Formats: sequence, C-alpha cells, structure tokens
Amino acid sequence: MKLQNQVAIVTGAASGMGKQIALLFAKEGAKVAVSDLNLDGANATVQEITSQGGTAFAIKTNVAAEEDVQHLIDTTVNTYGTVDILVNNAGIMDNMEPAGDITDEQWERVFAVNTTSVMRSTRKVLPIFLEKQRGIIINVASVGGLQGARAGAAYTASKHAVIGFTKNTGFMYATQGIRCNAIAPGGVETNISSSMTGINQFGASRQQLGMAINPRMGKAEEIAKVALFLASEDSSFVNGTVISADAGWTAY
Ligand SMILES: NC(=O)c1ccc[n+]([C@@H]2O[C@H](COP(=O)([O-])OP(=O)(O)OC[C@H]3O[C@@H](n4cnc5c(N)ncnc54)[C@H](O)[C@@H]3O)[C@@H](O)[C@H]2O)c1
Repeated sequence: MKLQNQVAIVTGAASGMGKQIALLFAKEGAKVAVSDLNLDGANATVQEITSQGGTAFAIKTNVAAEEDVQHLIDTTVNTYGTVDILVNNAGIMDNMEPAGDITDEQWERVFAVNTTSVMRSTRKVLPIFLEKQRGIIINVASVGGLQGARAGAAYTASKHAVIGFTKNTGFMYATQGIRCNAIAPGGVETNISSSMTGINQFGASRQQLGMAINPRMGKAEEIAKVALFLASEDSSFVNGTVISADAGWTAY
C-alpha cells in the first residue's frame, strides 16, 4: 500500500474526482478526512470507504469560508493526530461568461471556492508540514488553468491563479520536505455541470469550438490515479508543477 498510515484531507469528496481520490487513498492505507459542503454525500463516501475496511470521517466544509477551513484542518488533527496530504479538490464552474458579462458577484464566488480556498488551506496546513519537514499538497486545477477558453473568464482566471500559487508554494518550501503540485484534468464525467446556472450563450458558443479536438472524456478514477502518484513517494522528485490528464486535448 502506497499511503500506509498517512492522513489525507480531500475537499469536495462527496462527488466526482474528490470522491474517487478519497476512495483510492483509503484503499492505499490512508486515513481520510472526507470534506464537502454536501454532508450527506460526504457520509456516503465514508460509508463506502469503511465498508471496504478503510478509515475515514465525514466533515461539512464550505471551502469558501475561512472558519470552515480552519475547522477542517483542526478537526483532522484532533481525530488522526496530524495531516500528511492535503488535496484541494473542491471547485465550481462559472457560466462560461466572457469578460464583458461577468458580474462582481459571480467573479468573487468562483474565486472564493476555486482559488482563495486553496491559499487558506495551504496557509493553515503549512505549520504542521514545516514542523515535520514533510507534507504533500495536491491542487486540482484544470486545463482551464493552462489554456484560454476551456470555460468562462472567471473559471479560467481562477484556475490559472491556482497553478501560479502551486508553483510558488512548491518552490518556496522545496528544501523543507514539502511538495506542492497541481493536476490539470481535461473533460471528466462528474457532476460539475450542476454548479452551472444560466449558461452564457455567447461564451458557451466560443468555448464549444475547442470541444471538437477533445479526444475523449475522462473518468474520475483516472484522475484519482494521478493524485495517488503525486501523494506517494513515486513522485518524490516532482514538485511545483502541473500534470495534465486530458487524453491529449491540450497537446493540440
Ligand atoms: N469535471 C471536469 O471536467 C473538470 C475538469 C477540470 C477540472 N475540474 C475540477 O475538478 C474539481 C472537482 O470537480 P468535479 O468535476 O469532480 O465536480 P463535482 O461537482 O462532481 O464535485 C465537486 C464537489 O465539490 C463540492 N463543493 C462545491 N462547492 C464547494 C464548497 N464551497 N465547499 C466545499 N465543497 C464544495 C461539491 O459539493 C461536490 O461534491 C474541481 O476543482 C473542478 O474545477 C473538473
């Protein structure tokens, strides 16, 4: 088992990639804090883990709320004694709005969930990692964080910011046993479209142009395997970078 006795936090673990990451990490021996805004969904993930002999607890977290992020990490330490792996996975889509149509409210909502949350949980977990001189941070970004029009302007900018933050954090703590990397998934079959309300027709029509070159959609389990690589010693020399997992979509 690749994560024996490791303590992992996975945000957005009630659904999609977060759920598969939590399941796979538990299968590999990690004790998992299954965090999500949707507590029923988080409980269902935990039930699946424990029915397979794994160890996990569910916790309701709105990653956009500073006090919830603090509570998540404090509760994990109180429950399992420490944190070894932080997976910042929770995220939402925008409505494909181009710059001219973004409201302040939408911009701030997308950045709060997708970006500011990543900074806050990283800031909170770092003292634990620095004390141990050991720790792993995995940020689920997106091909939208590398390319210009995989979504609307707010989502695209929010994920570019996550990638910049990942590189900065990876470099800053590189000599202190901490690794911070991002995954840039392409299109993956999950429930993320449920976070979209009232799609911007012009933005969506521009965004759709690139779908023609998407080789295929991925499965959440395929992203979980990349996360396991980044969480384990198999990636000991990988730091401050982004792994695309998109069947070659961004290679064009
Ligand atoms: N599905 C894709 O095609 C795709 C592609 C690239 C990147 N991503 C990224 O992958 C990550 C996971 O998304 P997914 O596709 O598995 O979606 P999903 O909707 O299936 O799962 C996301 C989970 O995050 C939770 N969540 C949403 N807002 C939250 C908040 N404020 N606090 C805590 N939890 C919250 C949801 O309840 C849900 O359980 C996101 O960061 C997303 O941007 C998705």
